[in-house]
Amino acid sequence: MKIIEKVADLQGVLARARQSHKSLGLVPTMGALHDGHIALVKRAVAENGVTVVSVFVNPTQFNDKNDLCNYPRTPEADCQLLEKAGATIVFMPSVEEVYPEPDTRQFAFGALESVMEGAFRPGHFNGVAQIVSRLFDIVKPDRAYFGEKDFQQLAIIREMVKQLHLDVTIEACPIVREADGLAKSSRNTRLNATQRQAAVNISRVLKESAGVRVAPAMPPAMTIEWVVAQINAVPELQVEYFSIVDGHTLQPIQKWDDTTFPVGCIAVFDGDVRLIDNIFY
Ligand code: PAF
Repeated sequence: MKIIEKVADLQGVLARARQSHKSLGLVPTMGALHDGHIALVKRAVAENGVTVVSVFVNPTQFNDKNDLCNYPRTPEADCQLLEKAGATIVFMPSVEEVYPEPDTRQFAFGALESVMEGAFRPGHFNGVAQIVSRLFDIVKPDRAYFGEKDFQQLAIIREMVKQLHLDVTIEACPIVREADGLAKSSRNTRLNATQRQAAVNISRVLKESAGVRVAPAMPPAMTIEWVVAQINAVPELQVEYFSIVDGHTLQPIQKWDDTTFPVGCIAVFDGDVRLIDNIFY
């Protein structure tokens, strides 16, 4: 496995790979890798001749400076995990290498970005689009792999690929969970023991909301009230939003049969740690 920091070096290595007609998979990450990332990497390795994993904490997608400072950084451990998972190249650039000049591009994703994460984290998806399009431009992958935990991000990236007419296939991979159901996240390492215990209630309540007792009998608005009440009843937890949306348009639904793909998306503060999760109903 090669660890590369410079764009020019990466492009040199990739040019040689392309000459030997190897397909190229890209897994963009911000490091602090866990089993969710490793599942993406293993799938990329299985489906491509060359797998590039980028490890870059992208400052332009953080609307909160503290969140950027507190974001966990574990480059040595990341490289060990990636080597074991079979990655070909780890791209670990500096901020200056990725953005020699400030990126002033403004993307417009319409209704897809005006809800949920887009509403609560202004500018976040513009930053995600800046870095992902930049990585696509540098690496020119055949396939790129993203987790369904960031459900809205996935929809935004698909839309960006459409808008920019990019020749890359976006592959979505299911959420990987801890044994007790908590969605794996780099942010979980910031939870203290009490917060970690509380966190399990997020996936538990989402799962229960899909059960026969609740979902079919209650319209989405009542299910939302029920989920929010259950989670807010746990002392450490505070729901920021819970929406039940059409999984294609991300717009809230009024009735279950408004869509064939209802998805419940949630953001919860567990103490000062913000966690997201979702459920396909
Ligand atoms: O999902 C993430 O970790 C990030 O948003 C991504 C896609 C790597 C862009 O920085």
